[in-house]
Amino acid sequence: MHQLTEFSFSKRFPELPLISAALAEEHPDFVPLSFGFPAKESFLIPLLSEAAVSALQTQGLESLQYTGGTGPKKVNEWIKKRSELRSIQSENENILVTSGSMQAIDLATRTLADPGDHVWIEAPSFFGAIRQFSLAEVELTSFPIDEDGLRVDLVEQALIEAKVKGKPMPKMFYVMPNYHNPTGVNLSLARRKKLAELAYEYNFYVLEDDAYVELSFSGGFVPSIYSFGPERVIYISTFSKIIAPGIRMGWAIAGEQVINKMRMLKSDGSTSVFVQEIVSQFLAKIDFEQHVQYLTSIYRARKDAMVRSIHEYFGNEVSYQMPEGGFFLWLTFPAEVDTSEFMEKSLKNGVGYLDGKHFYLQNDELNHIRLSFTFCDEEQIRRGIQRIAESYNDYKNNREVLEEAL
Ligand SMILES: Cc1ncc(COP(=O)(O)O)c(C=O)c1O
Repeated sequence: MHQLTEFSFSKRFPELPLISAALAEEHPDFVPLSFGFPAKESFLIPLLSEAAVSALQTQGLESLQYTGGTGPKKVNEWIKKRSELRSIQSENENILVTSGSMQAIDLATRTLADPGDHVWIEAPSFFGAIRQFSLAEVELTSFPIDEDGLRVDLVEQALIEAKVKGKPMPKMFYVMPNYHNPTGVNLSLARRKKLAELAYEYNFYVLEDDAYVELSFSGGFVPSIYSFGPERVIYISTFSKIIAPGIRMGWAIAGEQVINKMRMLKSDGSTSVFVQEIVSQFLAKIDFEQHVQYLTSIYRARKDAMVRSIHEYFGNEVSYQMPEGGFFLWLTFPAEVDTSEFMEKSLKNGVGYLDGKHFYLQNDELNHIRLSFTFCDEEQIRRGIQRIAESYNDYKNNREVLEEAL
């Protein structure tokens, strides 16, 4: 038996909050509205199986080698063509395929910023990205969003002030322009243009995270920020929401110098060339437009079911902006409500949601919850919303009793 002395690990790991809603209580029919997971119906397993078998049969020796066969080139071709729809022109030198877009966030951050450098983000913002920024040891500042997305006017004011007062300027601005996580809001065209202009004027990069762009309920697209500032924007997206997150494949598009630097920071050699072979064969087999329509028809119906249930069980007690695509609905309660206070009760009642404070740097906005409408079916969604409403009403009644007693 060896005697174990406590080990002192690297100091790199920041204190990060435990997001308790992810810990489902044991409940016979728990409804997880917390998870940003795609619908199981979105995984085209027979076609993926065919693509996997065919990848081995037709490109086996090549795709199992370090360098891969024709898959990576074909995936690049697909990305190039699809990106043209967002007014993005790219060549192979501008594209890096990554292990999920999460890796692209990490590589972009460490390419642009040293520890202690400043990165600006939206409030609220995606906590997965906030985690990457913390690990990269950068300083974060956040800016509010409204119904047209990021308040770019406030960003401009802050840039002017920082310049005048000699305060640190940002190296990067992280923004989700389409179906923002967690609010579902879109950034207006005018603000996209303005943000790109500011990036040139104040010499920072925009990290444009476009994870949900394909999942539009109207089928419409607004040009990317990248299209207004290709020398100062890194555009990233992912196959997670359109094929499956388990394949762990995303991409970045940027200037050649930036892409080369990001590639140098990649510690995994390369993103699986074998999986790229499967993805390229899968994409060749499907009618992608039809596939997107199939996905959005499922998600639109589930979003509608969620909205109906919110009206049925909450009436006018809560507010939200109607999602026009993506995965999430951001529910706002009256200002005095702390949504984490009826979380435990909700979990016991058999429903999970994410309390909104986790999406803010200071955990200081307490009256929101993020609901995902993609993973659960319509009946589960109805039951889930009913259970949240029951837990909320209990919390509210208890608070009123308490206030009366005081
Ligand atoms: C806005 C956003 N960006 C990036 C990701 C990461 O996706 P992946 O690493 O699976 O591509 C997610 C996942 O939830 C997300 O919501």
